[in-house]
Amino acid sequence: MNRIESIFEDVRNHKRTVLNYEESRRVMELAGIPLNKMKVAKDLEESIQRANEVGYPIVLKVISEDVIHKSDSGGVEVGIKSDNELSKSYHEMMENVLSFYPDAKIEGVSVEEMVGGVELLIGTNTDAQFGKMIALGIGGIFVEVYKDVSFRLIPVSSKDVKDMIDEIKGKAMFDGFRGLPKVNLDELTSLILTISKLIEDYPIIFEMDLNPVVATENGLRAIDARIILEQ
Ligand SMILES: Nc1ncnc2c1ncn2[C@@H]1O[C@H](COP(=O)(O)OP(=O)(O)OP(=O)(O)O)[C@@H](O)[C@H]1O
Ligand SMILES: [Mg+2]
Repeated sequence: MNRIESIFEDVRNHKRTVLNYEESRRVMELAGIPLNKMKVAKDLEESIQRANEVGYPIVLKVISEDVIHKSDSGGVEVGIKSDNELSKSYHEMMENVLSFYPDAKIEGVSVEEMVGGVELLIGTNTDAQFGKMIALGIGGIFVEVYKDVSFRLIPVSSKDVKDMIDEIKGKAMFDGFRGLPKVNLDELTSLILTISKLIEDYPIIFEMDLNPVVATENGLRAIDARIILEQ
């Protein structure tokens, strides 16, 4: 059994189908998907240590199986610049998340490198009729507003990926939008091929969400990750 399989096996053994944030990120890392730097912490003291290792400015995110949407409940705070700000954000976050999800069991927080650029979304799903599908779109907060997403069946070829990119209505955003870094299309193509291959190799993955993947000056980085296994 390889390392990806043993993560899935472990999740199954715990009678779960949803991988937690760390497990999802671990699988993606093993598959060669680029991620931003991230460290977990279980309390404020530890998060201050981790923040100094990652280097300010950082992003703080709540880690809890019970929190479905982190930012909607105050569970994501970007642009934290000092120990003091972190301490303030940490307390506010715990309070906000718990007022949104009163019964949530909070496992800890993640302390993450801050990255900027065009936000894309890449996701996979399992359609009852067609099987495994992959989606590319303009990501982050705009997804729900514009629904600017293209789909293909897995496995995809480079030609399929090129067509998917061409179908994005807002693809002018890939071209250096308002001074943001350009999206490297070769890199994006190879990331989509990597994800397609991952799903082909591990059909046990029911759904996978990378929203957003940020096109930074230094290349693509997934900054949010979720994997759900077949029942
Ligand atoms: N490391 C980061 N650097 C810069 N911005 C970030 C970072 N992490 C998150 N953000 C910003 O916060 C937004 C929400 O973050 P994230 O996707 O992690 O949470 P979420 O989408 O609210 O959670 P969920 O997917 O559980 O609903 C991102 O779209 C992005 O704009
Ligand atoms: Mg997200």
